[in-house]
Amino acid sequence: MKGERLSSPLRLRRLPPRPISAASADAAANADADHRLVVSGGGRLAGHVGVSGSKNAALAVLAGALCCSSGAFALRGVPDLSDTRTMAAVLRSLGARVEEHGGGEVVVDAGAVTSVEPDSEAIGRIRAGFFVLGPLVARFGEAEVALPGGCRIGARPIDLYLRGLAALGAVVQLRHGKVRVEAANGKGLVGGQFHLDYPSVGATETLMTAASLADGVTILSNVAREPEVADLAKFLVTCGAQIEGAGTSTLVINGKKRLHGAEFTIIPDRIEAGTLMVAAAITRSCISLSPVIPGHLTSIMDKLSAAGCKIIQKGRHILEVSALSSPNNGDLQGFYLKTLPYPGFPTDLQPQFMALLTTCSGLSVVEESVFENRMHHVKELQKLGARIRLSGSSAFIQGKRHRSAALSGCPVEAADLRGGAALVLAGMAVEGVTEISGVSHIDRGYENFEAKLLSLGANIERKVEHQQQLMTGIA
Ligand code: EPZ
Repeated sequence: MKGERLSSPLRLRRLPPRPISAASADAAANADADHRLVVSGGGRLAGHVGVSGSKNAALAVLAGALCCSSGAFALRGVPDLSDTRTMAAVLRSLGARVEEHGGGEVVVDAGAVTSVEPDSEAIGRIRAGFFVLGPLVARFGEAEVALPGGCRIGARPIDLYLRGLAALGAVVQLRHGKVRVEAANGKGLVGGQFHLDYPSVGATETLMTAASLADGVTILSNVAREPEVADLAKFLVTCGAQIEGAGTSTLVINGKKRLHGAEFTIIPDRIEAGTLMVAAAITRSCISLSPVIPGHLTSIMDKLSAAGCKIIQKGRHILEVSALSSPNNGDLQGFYLKTLPYPGFPTDLQPQFMALLTTCSGLSVVEESVFENRMHHVKELQKLGARIRLSGSSAFIQGKRHRSAALSGCPVEAADLRGGAALVLAGMAVEGVTEISGVSHIDRGYENFEAKLLSLGANIERKVEHQQQLMTGIA
């Protein structure tokens, strides 16, 4: 099996990274703007809200699209977020054509890739940018990628990516903040076996895409079982890959010479859905939401039901969540939760559920077992009056007898994506006005967040202040 050969006589012309367009424009536009969300709490929500496509599945599929050497194809259900725009910029910096048509449709043509060195600035902005390492080395026999960025919620090492690629016949070097990977045989990756010490989502996705173009059969064990991983596998199979075991802890992949592009629709975002379900619970409201895949939300529905919410499936992809008439005259009950890899409780909903627990009665415990530094939101919730004690990777939350007895609004700051969402939810539950800064974190993962909450009756607005304007203010 030979790595794909490009037109240039040199094995692979290394192009200087292309300036990133959308992301830099985005960043430039935001650079001098200070976005804040201002939330007035105490109201109830009502109505129906739409759920966007999954951010994390879309990012993985966009990276996986690099495996496809022929034909443009349309992806649907791609949420319009700063992260997906950054991923589009990563692909463009490699020479791929990416057109964002709006309405969740993105057309990709990775046939025209001319570089194996994506723009480092873009890679530094999101974790998923690093996932391109797999398809690039598998398709071209080499790649050079900067170390990834993303939420600062832990050390987030990449050892499983690198050891996994080595198990597929790659030579890996880490130098000057970049990972350089080459096929040891100078041609392409070779099927092999690799056991992941931890079921890492990103490492599973990266190794699965790589193995899809390797020569021979690969067995990956103790892999991640998240729905986003299974969605990526489904996309790759649609493009001609042979993958068995998606959604289980073992993947068997029979590598193919080439993969072609194929139309594909991304699954709904279960984390956004969970966040909106907490919005209903924390404001003691009743809302419905769709599209959702109820099977992806089991652990979330279990916890909300344990607290006293009523959850009804109103259609194949429609759920109603009600905390209107929970037992104990509207008081929701506290509970214990521990984050775990799927199908356990998702770490990406830990902050939002912690915000909810500050309004539930009794003592609750939240144990974060996936990331070692994902408690930045605690001190901001404490500013709102929440009684939370941290001990190691656990938070002990003394909830409130009555919904917002002593919780009241004030300025708070988002330090990461999900923590930011939790502060917006808390702001809707407490009395008074909560002003949230660091909104760019939230924009990375929630499409039209405040518009959706507004449509449900929340009292929320975005304030944008440009530096110059600020200057004028002082004068
Ligand atoms: C994905 O991150 C998601 N991001 C995260 O969502 C999510 O929190 C996480 O999976 C867990 O569900 C995307 O899909 C883009 P991991 P990822 O590798 O792949 C350790 C959000 O809010 N590990 O499964 O980076 C690691 O340190 C984001 O949308 C190693 O030790 O997560 C961590 O403790 C935040 N070595 C654990 O695995 C490795 O080589 C889980 O990380 C890789 C990971």
